Amino acid sequence: MSKIRKKLINFKKNANQIVCITCYDASFSKILDDLKIDIVLVGDSLGMVIQGKKNTHDVKIEEISYHTNCVSQNKNNFILMADMPKNSYNDVDTALLNAKKLIKSNADIVKIEYKDKHKDIIKKLISEDIPVCGHLGLLPQYISQKEDIRVYGKNDIERNTILEQAITLEKLGADIVLLECVDKKLSESITKTLNIPVIGIGSGEFCNGQVQVLYDIIGISSNPPKFSKNYLLDSKDIVSAIEKFYNYVKNISII
Ligand code: KIV
Repeated sequence: MSKIRKKLINFKKNANQIVCITCYDASFSKILDDLKIDIVLVGDSLGMVIQGKKNTHDVKIEEISYHTNCVSQNKNNFILMADMPKNSYNDVDTALLNAKKLIKSNADIVKIEYKDKHKDIIKKLISEDIPVCGHLGLLPQYISQKEDIRVYGKNDIERNTILEQAITLEKLGADIVLLECVDKKLSESITKTLNIPVIGIGSGEFCNGQVQVLYDIIGISSNPPKFSKNYLLDSKDIVSAIEKFYNYVKNISII
């Protein structure tokens, strides 16, 4: 079992809630490392919050690699997760080449917005000892209209599809699943069904951890999602705001 897989499984075994926050630069990664944040995600949300674009669709693998390397400069404790951006995993060979670029930039694990057509890609990355996070529910790389920004898994068909995909990801060897905007009852049953940890954003509290975009929790995103909270409003500074989010997550009990 890889070191990363062991670490992730232990969070779930020990009922230790996982705190995951996005980050794009070395200054914030120092703060997140000092605060003992468990997973730091170099998300393709950087397309919006760093590059000022309207979505994540044009983010390039070189840009994620660059920011991953910046974030890694202050990495001592956290697990560094890096997003595979849109079009960086259109086939198995391209996916492997690009995942290796992220690992070379010091990522510990790569994240893929998972569809059924990606099975062979997940298998290949795992067989090459590249840890994988499967992202399910709302998949920002595939949305084309405002109506796609909604909660997923409320009807039977969607519920069964997402549950099946989560089970498939575990069987293929994925190390962790991330649920974005998934119905909270479905998040709960996925969390109870899988042996690997399940972390959620806008997917209710019944997960093995919570993910947030850094700029949402410190109140500087121009268009934060409804489920996010500005922790800076009642904190004296940015460090205390992030610490408040950390304490909130660590105190969630799902037993
Ligand atoms: O890119 C990102 O920041 C993400 C999170 C919203 C989960 O994928």
